[in-house]
Amino acid sequence: MSLYRPPRTQSSEITPREVYLSRRSFMAGTAAGLAFAASGTALAAPLAATPSAYKVADKLTPKQDVTTYNNFYEFGVNKSDPAANSGDFKPTPWAIEVGGLVAKPQVIDLEKIMTEIPMEERVYRMRCVETWSMVIPWIGFPLSALLDRVEPLGSAKYVAFETVVRPAEMPGQSGFFQPLNWPYVEGLRLDEARHPLTILATGLYGETLPNQNGAPIRLVVPWKYGFKGVKSIVKITLTEKEPPTTWKNSGPSEYGFYANVNPAVDHPRWSQATERRIGEGDGLFGGRRVDTLPFNGYADEVAGLYAGMDLKKFY
Ligand code: MTE
Repeated sequence: MSLYRPPRTQSSEITPREVYLSRRSFMAGTAAGLAFAASGTALAAPLAATPSAYKVADKLTPKQDVTTYNNFYEFGVNKSDPAANSGDFKPTPWAIEVGGLVAKPQVIDLEKIMTEIPMEERVYRMRCVETWSMVIPWIGFPLSALLDRVEPLGSAKYVAFETVVRPAEMPGQSGFFQPLNWPYVEGLRLDEARHPLTILATGLYGETLPNQNGAPIRLVVPWKYGFKGVKSIVKITLTEKEPPTTWKNSGPSEYGFYANVNPAVDHPRWSQATERRIGEGDGLFGGRRVDTLPFNGYADEVAGLYAGMDLKKFY
């Protein structure tokens, strides 16, 4: 498992000195630090982030659980597979192609944009469609900040996302059994994408995003089921029509495009009324049961986006 992304040679030139020092303070100027950078040895690089108003008061899920109980089918279908099988994945350098219905299509260098857009820490409740939940301190920036740079055209109504395809580094993409079609794709309506709660995360618990959690950059939309949170994003495309999404493609009667957390709309095979808080109570596979809240507790902020829509139909 590699928690550390070595900086590229030009990092110190393009990064303001204070930011560079706070992010890399453990290694600044030392020969040992440079040796670590060159070898990519697993190290936790602290990320500088400004505090944000978006913090729920719920007890945090222990980092150990957040980083070992995952869904990331590119590395296998079991919860422990992503942590066990993602060690060879190389999240640096990283570029995201942003295009489609925009005035300024561009290829964005992640290391560069992370120094240009202020990073924030946000503590979000996360609810998986499989009825477990976690409370995670993310580090990231609003997706809207990235969208502003490409200037969406008036005709753009949706945002489509794509995960990287690298069978050589992602064993779930190369094995005999292929559980999904690759790339994993997701989408949001443009107003959902622009909502201030919607972020692109590059870290958690003050550190660079671990491979198993979607390194180096993944989507986080706290009022939707976890499968909307597409990981290791390489492409973002603004479209006029609703884009295809992986789980809706694989089981349209079970998973919809909207995927808003809704205790009143059951999954065809199980209830969504309650959830299991991972890491609380009886160990990893136990967990305290709590009631699931409409929009995962973010109704005040986001219910207005769906005014007049039948949420049983648009699940
Ligand atoms: N992104 C990709 N590329 N592949 C996946 O299999 N799984 C999704 C989502 N993003 C997945 C993905 C699902 S089902 C969930 S619940 C969340 O990632 C889990 O995120 P976590 O492991 O960081 O908790």
